[in-house]
Amino acid sequence: MMEHSLAHCRWILLQFIPGFIVLCISSGSIPASLSNASRLRLLDFAENGLTGKFPAENLGSLERLVRVNFDDNSLGSGKAGDLDSLSFLANCTNLEVLSFSRNSLGGKLPESIANFSTQLRIFTMGGNLIHGSLPTGIGNLVNLTNLGMEQNFIGGSLPDVIGKLYKLQGLYLNLNRFSGPIPTSLGNLTLVTRLFMEGNRFKGSIPPSLGNCKNLLILNLSSNNLDGIIPKEVIGLSSLSISLSMSQNSLTGSLPDEVGASVNLAELDISGNNLSGEIPITLGSCNSLVSLHLEGNEFKGEIPQSLEKLRGLEEMDISQNNLSGQIPEFLGKFGALKHLNLSQNDFEGELPREGIFLNASGVSILGNDKLCGGIPELLLPACSSRKPHSSRGLLAPKVIIPLTCAIAVIIALSCLVTAHSMMKKSKGRLVTSSSYKDSYASVSYSELVESTNGFSVDNLIGSGSFGSVYKGVLGTNGMVVAVKVLNLQQHGASKSFIDECKALRSIRHRNLLKIITACSSVDNKGNDFKSLVFNFMKNGSLDPWLHPREGSQTQRLSLIQRLNIAIDVASALDYLHDDCETSIVHCDLKSSNVLLDEDMVAHVGDFGLASLLLEASTNQTMSAGLKGSIGYIPPEYGMGCQASILGDIYSYGILLLEMFTGRRPTDDMFKDGLSIHQFTAMAFPDRVMDIVDTSLLLIETDEVNDDVKYSNDIKERPKAGHKDIGQVNARGLEECLVSVMQVGLLCSAISPKERILMNVVVNKMNAIRDSYLKLTKKTKFVT
Ligand SMILES: *[C@@H]1O[C@H](CO)[C@@H](O)[C@H](O)[C@H]1NC(C)=O
Ligand SMILES: *[C@@H]1O[C@H](CO)[C@@H](O)[C@H](O)[C@H]1NC(C)=O
Ligand SMILES: *[C@@H]1O[C@H](CO)[C@@H](O)[C@H](O)[C@H]1NC(C)=O
Ligand SMILES: *[C@@H]1O[C@H](CO)[C@@H](O)[C@H](O)[C@H]1NC(C)=O
Ligand SMILES: *[C@@H]1O[C@H](CO)[C@@H](O)[C@H](O)[C@H]1NC(C)=O
Ligand SMILES: *[C@@H]1O[C@H](CO)[C@@H](O)[C@H](O)[C@H]1NC(C)=O
Ligand SMILES: *[C@@H]1O[C@H](CO)[C@@H](O)[C@H](O)[C@H]1NC(C)=O
Ligand SMILES: *[C@@H]1O[C@H](CO)[C@@H](O)[C@H](O)[C@H]1NC(C)=O
Repeated sequence: MMEHSLAHCRWILLQFIPGFIVLCISSGSIPASLSNASRLRLLDFAENGLTGKFPAENLGSLERLVRVNFDDNSLGSGKAGDLDSLSFLANCTNLEVLSFSRNSLGGKLPESIANFSTQLRIFTMGGNLIHGSLPTGIGNLVNLTNLGMEQNFIGGSLPDVIGKLYKLQGLYLNLNRFSGPIPTSLGNLTLVTRLFMEGNRFKGSIPPSLGNCKNLLILNLSSNNLDGIIPKEVIGLSSLSISLSMSQNSLTGSLPDEVGASVNLAELDISGNNLSGEIPITLGSCNSLVSLHLEGNEFKGEIPQSLEKLRGLEEMDISQNNLSGQIPEFLGKFGALKHLNLSQNDFEGELPREGIFLNASGVSILGNDKLCGGIPELLLPACSSRKPHSSRGLLAPKVIIPLTCAIAVIIALSCLVTAHSMMKKSKGRLVTSSSYKDSYASVSYSELVESTNGFSVDNLIGSGSFGSVYKGVLGTNGMVVAVKVLNLQQHGASKSFIDECKALRSIRHRNLLKIITACSSVDNKGNDFKSLVFNFMKNGSLDPWLHPREGSQTQRLSLIQRLNIAIDVASALDYLHDDCETSIVHCDLKSSNVLLDEDMVAHVGDFGLASLLLEASTNQTMSAGLKGSIGYIPPEYGMGCQASILGDIYSYGILLLEMFTGRRPTDDMFKDGLSIHQFTAMAFPDRVMDIVDTSLLLIETDEVNDDVKYSNDIKERPKAGHKDIGQVNARGLEECLVSVMQVGLLCSAISPKERILMNVVVNKMNAIRDSYLKLTKKTKFVT
């Protein structure tokens, strides 16, 4: 056991709270001394070439374990008994993630999984050699969001209790030996987005109750022994957007008209069944389709004209049916079409000579004896009688010309409209919208009293160095606002308050909190009263997101969310520093001054307040409150320096370190000269992973919940085997975090001269995000 830089290891992190130990084991077995690490919470040994027994025995004493990940190793003998030791994990009552996908573990899943922690959210064991059946005790694990069992030899019927796991979002049962019917209780899983059941021996019919899974994005039932009809409830699930696959079964009946409800569906594959009847006209409504597979059925009749709306098709296979009539011209107009298979049908007439039909290797027409024409490479007979075509040909000019004109007009119009709305939008980013203008300058003290229930405690949403903030609803237009009542120590504050607020109001940026209006008055006790009214931010301030209170259920921020917020804040500061008529110093940047709207876009609040209050005050020296907040104040302010943009940059650097270490700059550990800057500098760069916010690592290593990682683009979805579960590119993650910490360190340099300007920060942070996104994309989708 040796301590090492993570850069030399695969992905190994043993984490103690509050300390960390990094082990580097590139192969071999797991040290028995692990069982003494009683404070261990995170155990991640993925991709390490580990051999030997699954070390559950050593883990039973580690009651604080939250996450255990042994994905992609060579643990186990492939024989019975490999999993018996899992029963020891029943002691780990905090366990949320248990993952040992792609090892060599054999034997059966023990009944004792029934005694696992009910905290378990993610349980994955795909790609092993597990036999036997799924114990009914699985029904106890009611907090499971992901259950991955793909690519094993698990058989028997799928127990009904699966319907009790009502929080499931991903259920991966594919490539096993499940038999018997698909349980109706699956319809209980209303949150499930990904349901993979392909490659089993399920028989009987598809339960219509699956239509209750209103969040399904992808459903794969291919390669089973299913019969009966396609329930209209299932084919009509409008949530399906990635793929619906029922191929290679024995389904009968027609393709229900309800298929037209799947307007977002990218892939439909019902090939290799005994489906009959005509292709429904409603299929034309599925205009997101990229891939359509109807081959190997008994469909008859013509290709409906409505399919001309499927312009995004790249792949269309309708071979081996009993389809007839002409090949419609519109197929030649599908610009994206790369593969068209019309073989083994009964089509007739002339083949179009456009688009896909010009590429002999992209189109298959074999086994249609009545076709003629087309490019010579297709070796079709010339069309002797042009009859079938000529009837259409005569009509064509009359129809086509007005139609093209109409289309041109429509296109021109829609261009105008989009251009107009784009102009509006881009203006809206920086310029006030007129409704705000109208409501300005008209708010009175009594209106504010009314809108905030008399500044009641229930409405209080925060307080800071500049004053208290209340939530209110403006009577005039019902707009939800945040009212900041300024803390005025001195009487006789500037009479030009409203003018100055107006000036502040002209400062606009999408990442600055909008000032809607202001109020300067005298309160009911005769004291000066000044307040500012802002847009209300639904997700509150960044602070509780970074430091949730003990026991609170706040969702933690992912790496990408943190990067986005950091870029938003940097953009706002860059704007204040560089793009305003005179540079504006914020003076009080901190996590509680960064507010998040409903889309988690960050808006910096309290900008300009320092200068506004400073001018308003008769006292020339800045009071502590006006200089910023403890922990974020640059060292030079203490030496009597003027507030400056370099001071803001320091505060930004501290904020960045806070966001990624999860520690407040005022944390108890930062005393006796140790600051968050030094704490980070000491770990930089080799031990950065040791000081990163634990919750960030937890999230980044359980990617499965993260639907944004999948694109609706069919080519980017993960292939069977679902290698994406619980996997993360450790090197990429580390590189990203090292770069972020470096920016944080540069910005919070003790010497103001060493700090980097905000425009440089914005560029660097954008580059970090881009390269991280590129990396995750690559490792996620290439299998
Ligand atoms: C665990 O700790 C005890 C006492 O602290 C020690 O005697 C024992 O050898 C340790 N076990 C392992 C496997 O290191
Ligand atoms: C489970 O916990 C109990 C007490 O908390 C302990 O005595 C026992 O040794 C633990 N079991 C294992 C397998 O470590
Ligand atoms: C679960 O734990 C209880 C009590 O510890 C025990 O009696 C029971 O046998 C366990 N169940 C299984 C299936 O192991
Ligand atoms: C379906 O879910 C409900 C709770 O939402 C549960 O009470 C019921 O037992 C479940 N049904 C089945 C068959 O699991
Ligand atoms: C569905 O299952 C089939 C058969 O195993 C497979 O070929 C296909 O790629 C799967 N589709 C998706 C989207 O997973
Ligand atoms: C077209 O379909 C036929 C019959 O289903 C099949 O034999 C042939 O390989 C397919 N052609 C291509 C290029 O996929
Ligand atoms: C195909 O359709 C024709 C008439 O449309 C019919 O005579 C023939 O039996 C059908 N073939 C199959 C295999 O269904
Ligand atoms: C023709 O189709 C084949 C197979 O889809 C494709 O590889 C090739 O690029 C296409 N050629 C042209 C000129 O589009």
